[in-house]
Amino acid sequence: MSLLPDRRVRDDWFHGLVPQCVDIDPQAYLESAYSFALCRAERAHAVRIERAAHVYSSSLFDLGTNAEVSIGPFAMLNGARLICESQITIGAHVLISWNVVIMDSYRLPPDPARRRALIERASAPLHRMVDPALPAAPVHLRDNVWLGFDVCVLPGVTIGEGSVVGARSVVCGDVSPYTLVAGNPARPVRDLPRPPRAHEVAP
Ligand SMILES: CC(C)(COP(=O)(O)OP(=O)(O)OC[C@H]1O[C@@H](n2cnc3c(N)ncnc32)[C@H](O)[C@@H]1OP(=O)(O)O)[C@@H](O)C(=O)NCCC(=O)NCCS
Repeated sequence: MSLLPDRRVRDDWFHGLVPQCVDIDPQAYLESAYSFALCRAERAHAVRIERAAHVYSSSLFDLGTNAEVSIGPFAMLNGARLICESQITIGAHVLISWNVVIMDSYRLPPDPARRRALIERASAPLHRMVDPALPAAPVHLRDNVWLGFDVCVLPGVTIGEGSVVGARSVVCGDVSPYTLVAGNPARPVRDLPRPPRAHEVAP
């Protein structure tokens, strides 16, 4: 798929443009520019969608000004919401199911008085309620991870290569490679088979 010269997506139902900061490999697929309606990223090359990655239209890149997101080769986002103020990396062959939320920042403080002040300032439509004092912590999904539907991945989490997260789980801590986790909070259920290393494969 290549973008039209004015950065629209061909045959898109949405008339917006894909922002300049988004790099899409000609062999990647983006269903709709609507995925970037909430993108406020300002860095050059803030978003990279690599070869043969697929981003379907109910996916949303809800990105702050300093956000950086990379989507690896053959990754598939089928309606995920990425909430990013610092960095989210998604490796090769990662599969993300419906309604998954991945966030590197909570955006709002737990302190009720500070939260109320932010809400009162947010009277304009589509004003972003973000507390700039809150830290953001990058999230990394390594290669070949699978997130089931309605999964939530919280700030600072790394999910190791080949791991699976069961539907409706909330991931608050790192997940080791080749592990199936599930629940809220997500806990290991069992180990998953690792691919053989090169020297273990019969000639
Ligand atoms: C992750 C998943 C694939 C695991 O399936 P499985 O290997 O058949 O796992 P099992 O059903 O044998 O469950 C193993 C244990 O984990 C628990 N478990 C599995 N999924 C769970 C979940 N989402 N939340 C909480 N616990 C879960 C089971 O209750 C069971 O616990 P027990 O050993 O105490 O009885 C499956 O649970 C799942 O989430 N499927 C949804 C996939 C999806 O979203 N598909 C959309 C298309 S991309």
